[in-house]
Amino acid sequence: MKKVFIETMGCQMNKSDTERMLGMLSNFGYEETKEPKKADLLMINTCSIRQLSEDKAFSMIGTWGKWKEEGKDIKIGFCGCVAQQKAETIFKRARYVDFVLGTHKIYSLPDIIKRVNNGEKVCECEETNTTEDDKASEYKINRVKSVNAWIPITEGCNNFCTYCIVPYTRGRERSRQPEVILKEAKDALSQGFKEITLLGQNVDSYGKDFKDKNYRLAQLLQDVNNLEGNFRIRFVTSYPTDITDELIETVVKLDKVCEYFHIPMQSGSSEVLKKMNRRYDRETYAKIVEKVRKMVPDVTITSDFIAGFPGETEEQFEETLTAIDEFELDYSNTAAYSPREKTVAAKWVDKYIDEDTKTERLARLNEKVRENCLKSNQKFVGREMEVLIENFENHKGQNIITGRTRNNKIVHIPCNKDLTGEFVNVKITGLKTWYLKGELI
Ligand code: SAH
Ligand code: SF4
Ligand code: F3S
Repeated sequence: MKKVFIETMGCQMNKSDTERMLGMLSNFGYEETKEPKKADLLMINTCSIRQLSEDKAFSMIGTWGKWKEEGKDIKIGFCGCVAQQKAETIFKRARYVDFVLGTHKIYSLPDIIKRVNNGEKVCECEETNTTEDDKASEYKINRVKSVNAWIPITEGCNNFCTYCIVPYTRGRERSRQPEVILKEAKDALSQGFKEITLLGQNVDSYGKDFKDKNYRLAQLLQDVNNLEGNFRIRFVTSYPTDITDELIETVVKLDKVCEYFHIPMQSGSSEVLKKMNRRYDRETYAKIVEKVRKMVPDVTITSDFIAGFPGETEEQFEETLTAIDEFELDYSNTAAYSPREKTVAAKWVDKYIDEDTKTERLARLNEKVRENCLKSNQKFVGREMEVLIENFENHKGQNIITGRTRNNKIVHIPCNKDLTGEFVNVKITGLKTWYLKGELI
């Protein structure tokens, strides 16, 4: 067996692609290693959401390039979102790369490896805008050992938010066939996974491209919920205005679907939202969050925010801070705006916010997120909650099991037995900023 090492950057989409690529490679004589030095084939699955992630990818493969130039017999593959965007130009920047593989063609990996092993340099970055579901079902998936299995349900995005590169790296939005998704879910459950997370840039638009207009996310959730076994279902990411009443009702009705919504707001200012090409304003977002909270008891709502979007004034930035308070957002991912090639906002150079201001706003934003996470955690002290255990480790001399509640709160519980993969009932006894503390009941 030859050995392959894959470094994965970016979002769950990339993590899922890596699991698929490892599955294909295992049919092809390669086994995974976690040690790059032992690998015959080194691959990087890149993310281009911000300049920083792109730069990190190039600095990482620089080390591999050095090994190759020193005479080590290795092959190097550059994959993922940066690959999709930069295609052949990667060879110019990193001569030692053997193949460049974009996000649309991951199922050609076995063929690529064959060609590369024959001494060819290969670039497969054509945009196909298919889901290649037929091929997907032929290959096994080498899932990362965990309790949660990621299953993509849509690929790509049609929203073209003015800051975002995803529509350029992942192509047009397309839904995977329900049969393929259900088969992958069944396989994951039979392998012992206890949680299925349905993935997409905008999961609520699942099925918009099907002939059957009545099969949407709510119906898919129903079908996954019908699969046998004791497991949980989650879905991310939701686009605020695409969350239908039917979807919320379905979440409430189905026992396995968890009380958790990730609904990125991006900015608390209606003017900034307009410039971002988001299809809602502050009031509309408020109404959606209010509705979800009212209909789904104990729901956790998380969000994403960008600090320092071109032209963002101090007042507009402060509206983001007040939004987090007002809508009681339980947790938010944050980022300083990073101009991305091809996107509309990147052209507004004269409106760019200077780096110091962006850094300062990001720090204030993070402080607000921290404050609200703490507040949100306080609500649960004294409650009894079901926790799905994900991890067992010794922390400062104490054995701790860690897991999540249905509403996605992390809980640390002292316990000497590794209960990974089990559902336990826990009394919440305390809290820290980012997690709850509990005791087994
Ligand atoms: N589909 C999801 C977002 C996927 S990208 C949605 O619509 O919300 C994940 C997050 O990265 C975004 O929510 C945004 O907050 C952040 N992001 C995207 N482009 C960015 C950029 N150019 N600079 C900084 N953050 C960015
Ligand atoms: Fe990017 Fe907007 Fe699509 Fe999300 S919805 S992936 S932020 S373009
Ligand atoms: Fe994901 Fe980054 Fe690509 S966030 S879709 S890996 S640009």
